Amino acid sequence: MPKRPGELEISDKLLTQDAWVSFIGHIETPFKNRSECPRNGRKTDEIAYVKLKPDFLPALKSIESCSHVIIFYWMHEAMRTLVQQCPKFDDACHGTFALRSPNRPNPISISVVELLEVMPDGLKIRYIDCLDGTPLLDIKPYFHQTDSIPEAEVGWHATAAQKMAKDA
Ligand SMILES: C[S@@+](CC[C@H](N)C(=O)[O-])C[C@H]1O[C@@H](n2cnc3c(N)ncnc32)[C@H](O)[C@@H]1O
Repeated sequence: MPKRPGELEISDKLLTQDAWVSFIGHIETPFKNRSECPRNGRKTDEIAYVKLKPDFLPALKSIESCSHVIIFYWMHEAMRTLVQQCPKFDDACHGTFALRSPNRPNPISISVVELLEVMPDGLKIRYIDCLDGTPLLDIKPYFHQTDSIPEAEVGWHATAAQKMAKDA
């Protein structure tokens, strides 16, 4: 993917291999390329399927009691060397760790999804933003008591949104 003016990249030689991860399955969505994907899971209500490798299916025990779960996935088409990025919807650039961009040194993404059904081979869900076939890393229950901080802020994003509204 071409870099935008102002973006900062490091050498891929700096990405050391300090641990290994094991894909436990994959996610099936209707999104066949990145431009079809919503920017985040709340911007779609398309149904998706979390398909687990059979050996991991016993790890779903009791999950049917959860209304929402957090899905962790590996953005396999991401660029891993960008440390500053310039989002399309902003005229300023920001550090990768201040962004939810898929492009990051370890391209791990999360979505809080609604659990619709436990299937023989995984989960039927909605509210996810990834490409069809994206590798699956983990699943955890969503606890609103600890995972929700309604007063949390992302200052740069609020400023960009205000500017866009003014320019419109
Ligand atoms: C902005 S990211 C947000 C990801 C996640 N919800 C998060 O906040 O961690 C979502 C975008 O990543 C891109 N994307 C989706 N699946 C991908 C994949 N497997 N590899 C690389 N990029 C992907 C699409 O452009 C999508 O709109």
